Amino acid sequence: MIGKRVLRLWHNRWGAEAYGAGLALMSFAATISIIASYDGKTFPEWPAHITINALIGIFTVLIKAGLGLLLSEDDFDDASRGALGSTLFLFKIWKWDAVNNIAKFAAFLTILVAVVDPFSQQIVGIAACTRESDALIASVGRTNSYLTTGGHTGPLDSEIDSPMAVAINTGLVGPPDYIPSLVSTTCTSGNCTFGRFSSVAVCHSCAEITPQIRNSGGATGPWNFTLAGNKSASFPDLDLVPSTYLNTSASLSPTHLLDVRILSLNATTYRSASAFQCQLFPCVRTYDALVSKGVLEERIISKVPMGFDAFGGVGRYVLAASNLTQQGERTLNCSARAANDTAGLVRVALPNVDAAPQEMHGSGSKAPSAWFPQECVWTFGSSPYLAIRPEIRGYLDGADIQEYDTTYIGTIVAKNLWRNETIDFNSVDWYMRNVSDVMTARIRNSSPNGIDDFAMGRTTLDTICVQVRWAWLSYPAALIACGFAFFLVLFVQTPREAAAMRSWKSSNLAILFCSLDEAIRERTELTWFRDEIDDVARTAFVQLAHDGAGKAKFSEDELVINQNESRSREDGFTASSW
Ligand SMILES: *[C@@H]1O[C@H](CO)[C@@H](O)[C@H](O)[C@H]1NC(C)=O
Ligand SMILES: *[C@@H]1O[C@H](CO)[C@@H](O)[C@H](O)[C@H]1NC(C)=O
Ligand SMILES: *[C@@H]1O[C@H](CO)[C@@H](O)[C@H](O)[C@H]1NC(C)=O
Ligand SMILES: *[C@@H]1O[C@H](CO)[C@@H](O)[C@H](O)[C@H]1NC(C)=O
Ligand SMILES: *[C@@H]1O[C@H](CO)[C@@H](O)[C@H](O)[C@H]1NC(C)=O
Ligand SMILES: *[C@@H]1O[C@H](CO)[C@@H](O)[C@H](O)[C@H]1NC(C)=O
Ligand SMILES: *[C@@H]1O[C@H](CO)[C@@H](O)[C@H](O)[C@H]1NC(C)=O
Ligand SMILES: *[C@@H]1O[C@H](CO)[C@@H](O)[C@H](O)[C@H]1NC(C)=O
Repeated sequence: MIGKRVLRLWHNRWGAEAYGAGLALMSFAATISIIASYDGKTFPEWPAHITINALIGIFTVLIKAGLGLLLSEDDFDDASRGALGSTLFLFKIWKWDAVNNIAKFAAFLTILVAVVDPFSQQIVGIAACTRESDALIASVGRTNSYLTTGGHTGPLDSEIDSPMAVAINTGLVGPPDYIPSLVSTTCTSGNCTFGRFSSVAVCHSCAEITPQIRNSGGATGPWNFTLAGNKSASFPDLDLVPSTYLNTSASLSPTHLLDVRILSLNATTYRSASAFQCQLFPCVRTYDALVSKGVLEERIISKVPMGFDAFGGVGRYVLAASNLTQQGERTLNCSARAANDTAGLVRVALPNVDAAPQEMHGSGSKAPSAWFPQECVWTFGSSPYLAIRPEIRGYLDGADIQEYDTTYIGTIVAKNLWRNETIDFNSVDWYMRNVSDVMTARIRNSSPNGIDDFAMGRTTLDTICVQVRWAWLSYPAALIACGFAFFLVLFVQTPREAAAMRSWKSSNLAILFCSLDEAIRERTELTWFRDEIDDVARTAFVQLAHDGAGKAKFSEDELVINQNESRSREDGFTASSW
């Protein structure tokens, strides 16, 4: 049923051309939609390793087939031959030349269509591009809690975690050129981005207290500089006796990991001294980070000191800050919760940096408290706190530099602090920052749950992408446009009757007549219009025979029977044996 209808439509007037045009146009549209949807994207992974170029190749064949129908000899016949006889009036306006030109144009287009393939294969080019990987993980060290120690040594004492001891040493003596290189980072491609994240860390602060220095020696020397102690901060007096260039004192501060005072002689004038006081303390740092060319680049967004909290057993540093809500890609709701359902919540005293240290070992405190989600609570355990303090104090208490015959004598920590043989606020501040950064790297790497606590990011890969070279599309586009122009001209120039009469496929008679015996041609005085060919074919009987050169040709049958008019056109030739 459908087949017949299609066949009828096919035979109908411009059926073939319309289908050809439709095929060419649809294939072209399909090509464009495919390349447009993949332009700038990675090459698609289709089943059976089909490539985008293979698909374009298929559509190019279809375009060629469509254009082929549009430009087929068929049209040529109908336009210039079949239609010609019955519609000579047409050529009163459109002379022979015009028809010839249309035909030539079609022939020319047909040749151009044949070479469309190389152009099609040029359409898809490749370009370097970057893409996010779903498979590769990107991580950077961070943690909500630092609880690591080297084990208990007494009811309230712990040995320092060895890597932390190394970190303290490294920070004091020889920090690496690029401290973020110490942070655990996974980024296989060397190009990763991370969302904003926070971590427990160590922060520092420094202040210049030079005005507090007194000189108890002579006004013209020898000088005897003294920095008055502070009992409430457990600092004794700090002296800088003659031929001493640097002296320090560190107190076992109750609220800080380190509290240090630095007194140094002005090495330019030897007549004055400067003094600084610095602290190291637990804090929560918030970072923006990325890995570029394999190097972790971090920007510190904020540093928030942690307060002392009495609820965690023996006490601990805790921060439950409601504005630290960004955890990588996740945004946390860190507001305090109602106390009726405490699953997953932690009870903490509200932050108070200056909380009295004596309460540390006390049990119930009357400090105001609230419940927070675990991820929003930052903990610096009391055990590592108690283990770190004496370790770091040991290096920075009484670290002095004395001169003996232009030789400077002192510990390596003191020498590193007194580098360039002078000290100013910037160098002290940088020194303490370096120590805190190295310690922070260690804390971030020793998260209780390993990489599960780390900040996850996105890995960017260098890959190749489809780059559509649209210019190469202009050739098939122009061909289709020309094909349509040709179709239009043909449509306008062909009278309705001629179009209606045409069959979808012209007879092959014209081609067969090429190898016809001269005798027949002479007899019929053929001028090679289709009507005449048809007439001759109806009455001619030929046989296939060898010509003089041994080639096959149709020659007039000796037993010509002209009378058999009832034979159909298709039976016009009787092929006998060679
Ligand atoms: C890293 O990835 C970004 C895209 O996320 C890209 O713009 C940049 O060029 C890449 N850098 C390198 C060095 O590959
Ligand atoms: C330096 O001064 C302090 C008092 O400020 C004094 O106790 C000390 O003996 C003096 N040292 C010297 C070497 O003069
Ligand atoms: C002594 O230390 C306490 C606590 O650290 C501080 O508040 C006070 O200002 C200090 N006194 C001087 C004179 O620096
Ligand atoms: C450093 O200061 C302490 C007291 O704070 C003092 O006992 C010691 O002698 C000083 N050292 C030097 C080399 O001045
Ligand atoms: C969070 O709030 C504290 C004060 O409560 C402020 O000092 C800090 O800068 C804030 N941090 C951010 C990241 O907004
Ligand atoms: C807890 O109390 C709040 C009101 O304070 C209420 O909205 C909530 O439903 C309660 N949750 C449970 C689990 O009882
Ligand atoms: C040392 O003294 C000189 C002259 O008074 C001064 O310019 C310089 O800033 C001082 N250096 C330090 C580190 O205070
Ligand atoms: C701090 O560390 C950097 C390397 O990260 C180093 O270049 C700089 O000299 C150090 N500063 C001090 C004062 O130690």
